Amino acid sequence: MMRTISGWRRFLILVPLLFFLAHFFSVDQLHYNPRPVPNKQSKFNHLVLGPAAGQGLTNRLQCQPQGIKALNKTHFSSATAPALDNIHFVTVFTLYNSIRPDYQLSNLVTVGNASYTKLERSMAILNIFVNFIQVAMPRSDVVILTDPASDLSMHRNGVTIYPIQGEYSRDKLMLQRIRSYIAFLETRMEEVSQNQGHIHHYIFTDSDIAVVDDLGHIFHDYPNFHLALTFRNNKEQPLNSGFIAVRGTPAGILRAKTFLQEVLKVYRSRYMKASRMLGDQLALAWVVKSHPSFDPKKFTKAQAFIEDIGGAAVLFLPCAVYNWTPPEGAGQFHGMPLDVKVIHFKGSRKRLMLESWNFFSASSDISDMLCLILKSGRTKYDF
Ligand SMILES: *[C@@H]1O[C@H](CO)[C@@H](O)[C@H](O)[C@H]1NC(C)=O
Ligand SMILES: *[C@@H]1O[C@H](CO)[C@@H](O)[C@H](O)[C@H]1NC(C)=O
Repeated sequence: MMRTISGWRRFLILVPLLFFLAHFFSVDQLHYNPRPVPNKQSKFNHLVLGPAAGQGLTNRLQCQPQGIKALNKTHFSSATAPALDNIHFVTVFTLYNSIRPDYQLSNLVTVGNASYTKLERSMAILNIFVNFIQVAMPRSDVVILTDPASDLSMHRNGVTIYPIQGEYSRDKLMLQRIRSYIAFLETRMEEVSQNQGHIHHYIFTDSDIAVVDDLGHIFHDYPNFHLALTFRNNKEQPLNSGFIAVRGTPAGILRAKTFLQEVLKVYRSRYMKASRMLGDQLALAWVVKSHPSFDPKKFTKAQAFIEDIGGAAVLFLPCAVYNWTPPEGAGQFHGMPLDVKVIHFKGSRKRLMLESWNFFSASSDISDMLCLILKSGRTKYDF
């Protein structure tokens, strides 16, 4: 009994000490932005840099220990790539106009020179999503699927807003997203059957991603898939729904649509009670894993593979390259592959997406920007 109590006391003293040490030795804040840490527990309103993971590993981005400078030069392949088929990035995005204006104004967030209301933050993310695509893949287009009731407007070259009827409330958004993808693919099937000309491939993504290299090559390098998903070595959630590529041939569109209809069915029958952000990923994993010939061991190795799932040839691409995000919390992570193509600013990393774009606009150096992301990606930010 006595021993237990003194063990607890030791623990109570140790924990704050560890936090103190961790704070002072592993986190170096950006010197040009020395604003104090906000009171809201552990969410930062300014850039915070930690050590870069993966240093000393070959094929991982190496960064200078101090500051934000890459030692390896990654580069855009789009400048030299041949003119491949046209790629359409498709994202579901809707504005919630019901947020009260007084709440909006009392919750301004500042990034660089600009202040943003909650609505403006969402629009800034969407604009930067488009900016990165237009830098990395200047020949591609962006299609935004949205609620006809939301007054979303965006007047930019290469961007089309495409209203699709549905129920876009926050708690149904992931379910609606699959429905919108299916409805969109149905319109593409009609178009493809009428027009035998140029092929457009589709990449359905979350809008909090930065495309940092050409993605068109996957349709050439792996000529036999109908749709592509990204996977990681995670038992419960091996598949991320934030990236789904679809080959724009009649067979590709048809198989992808049938596949998503199956995911929708599983979502509705099994995962309606899952947290609103997870249902689609759980349904996706269920559809793939319940296929009799599928071997989940393949998810343990970060290597692309193709598998037949219910008649669709599905290409599985490693998240490490096509959907890179550092793990939350203290989990192991091995840095950033030199050939990373998509950065996902998941969860509380959204501020970092804006900061990264600002950094890139000023430096025009994608490798240095990747070091910024690598050093800062585990920080929890305030929007
Ligand atoms: C990346 O940079 C490090 C440090 O300069 C160097 O040792 C390594 O060979 C580089 N890796 C590649 C693949 O260029
Ligand atoms: C902030 O404003 C200054 C002066 O107007 C401008 O030169 C600078 O580029 C701006 N920085 C950002 C990140 O927008």
